[in-house]
Amino acid sequence: MNCMCQRWLLGVALLVMVTTLVAVDPSRYLAVRQSSFALNQIEDLPDTVVYRSVEHHTLIHCSNMCLLDESCSSFFYSLSGYCQLHNVVLNGLTQPSAHPGSHYYIVNNDNTDINCGNATEVECHNLTMSGTKVGDTAVYTCLRTSPDVITVTQTCASDGFWTGETPDCECDCRDLFASGVTTSGVYAIHLLKKGRINIFCDMEQDGGGWSVIQRRDTDTGDFNRTMTDYRNTIGDVSSDYWFGLTPMNQLTPGEIVLSFHLQNGTEYVLRYSEFDVKPAGNNFTVVVSEYMTGSTWEDVFSEQNGQQFSAADYDQDTNEDVNCALQTGGGWWYRNCSSMSLNGVNAFIVQPSTGMSFSIAPPVVMKIRRVVT
Ligand SMILES: *[C@@H]1O[C@H](CO)[C@@H](O)[C@H](O)[C@H]1NC(C)=O
Ligand SMILES: *[C@@H]1O[C@H](CO)[C@@H](O)[C@H](O)[C@H]1NC(C)=O
Ligand SMILES: *[C@@H]1O[C@H](CO)[C@@H](O)[C@H](O)[C@H]1NC(C)=O
Ligand SMILES: *[C@@H]1O[C@H](CO)[C@@H](O)[C@H](O)[C@H]1NC(C)=O
Ligand SMILES: *[C@@H]1O[C@H](CO)[C@@H](O)[C@H](O)[C@H]1NC(C)=O
Ligand SMILES: *[C@@H]1O[C@H](CO)[C@@H](O)[C@H](O)[C@H]1NC(C)=O
Repeated sequence: MNCMCQRWLLGVALLVMVTTLVAVDPSRYLAVRQSSFALNQIEDLPDTVVYRSVEHHTLIHCSNMCLLDESCSSFFYSLSGYCQLHNVVLNGLTQPSAHPGSHYYIVNNDNTDINCGNATEVECHNLTMSGTKVGDTAVYTCLRTSPDVITVTQTCASDGFWTGETPDCECDCRDLFASGVTTSGVYAIHLLKKGRINIFCDMEQDGGGWSVIQRRDTDTGDFNRTMTDYRNTIGDVSSDYWFGLTPMNQLTPGEIVLSFHLQNGTEYVLRYSEFDVKPAGNNFTVVVSEYMTGSTWEDVFSEQNGQQFSAADYDQDTNEDVNCALQTGGGWWYRNCSSMSLNGVNAFIVQPSTGMSFSIAPPVVMKIRRVVT
């Protein structure tokens, strides 16, 4: 949708949304038509609007619940921790007297062109707050923690748009952790260029704030896939998945922890202080260095350092006779085929000192965390 079109839409933004919703579900249309609610009536909203509410949540949790849920269009969050998800965007909401300091948030999706909402501290999640008038100012703050905090003060102009540039915000599991999220689970993070994307955050092990980029837990995922597939998320982020090379490139550099189990159940952990996945133009070359204390096996990952990514249909390994990815049935930064394959049909890892190959049993996890400098 181009800019002129958005401007034209502004005056009738709600009307457009009503029309959009009508086509989908008549009961939602009805709800919007009745939507001149004052926020102090928030407890009395009909079930057709409020389809989920939770007590004692943080704003980040509440916004994440909404962002992870495709039917959520907006939510109300009170300072007491009351979170209410709505399947429509309500009109005519004013600052509630019964809930001082509480706010109503609207999710900016492609089909909800609401402008001059009040940007908030969770704006890296692409939310705006309703009820802003021309002349109001808003401080637009990216959640991402120091040193990358971006703060811009904007004014709601008479054309209905915020003045000035809207900063490109980014936040990942580490930022969520820094903002107080301490429960592991699936969260919507926000990456530059990539936008909103779901990932599993490990908020409990190894100090928390880890973005899980690969996991084989139930061993139900199918990772014998093409290069095109490997660029994006494969599998289910709540169980077995590969996060995708493009978003990995956006999330790195950082430190990495790679853990795996042998068939006899013993767990080993490899830690490196530097892990980087280069962009598509470099065929997603991996850079890994500084094998760290706290590791419990041998440095096997360094063997892949500087290697491009291979998938069954995209052979970038150095073995001239064998297509390693095709042979193992999983993409990886293969050099010669015989070092490690965590995505392979039969995952294995070779012990550098003995040359012995060990079959790997789930769970296998790779997680990364950006380093704050
Ligand atoms: C918000 O989302 C819309 C639609 O997905 C996108 O066009 C826009 O760039 C996003 N804004 C920010 C600040 O991320
Ligand atoms: C928007 O945010 C600004 C800055 O935080 C605040 O002063 C103003 O009251 C807010 N506007 C509304 C309508 O909530
Ligand atoms: C599992 O196998 C590894 C490698 O042979 C060995 O070092 C480890 O002690 C074994 N663990 C158990 C519990 O047998
Ligand atoms: C990436 O891989 C393709 C296909 O093998 C190759 O043509 C290209 O030169 C590689 N790019 C780099 C930067 O090595
Ligand atoms: C992976 O898939 C390819 C093509 O579908 C197939 O030829 C190959 O045998 C599979 N690899 C394994 C290890 O199953
Ligand atoms: C690659 O692996 C094959 C078989 O596993 C081995 O014969 C060959 O020497 C290796 N090549 C290099 C350069 O290490």
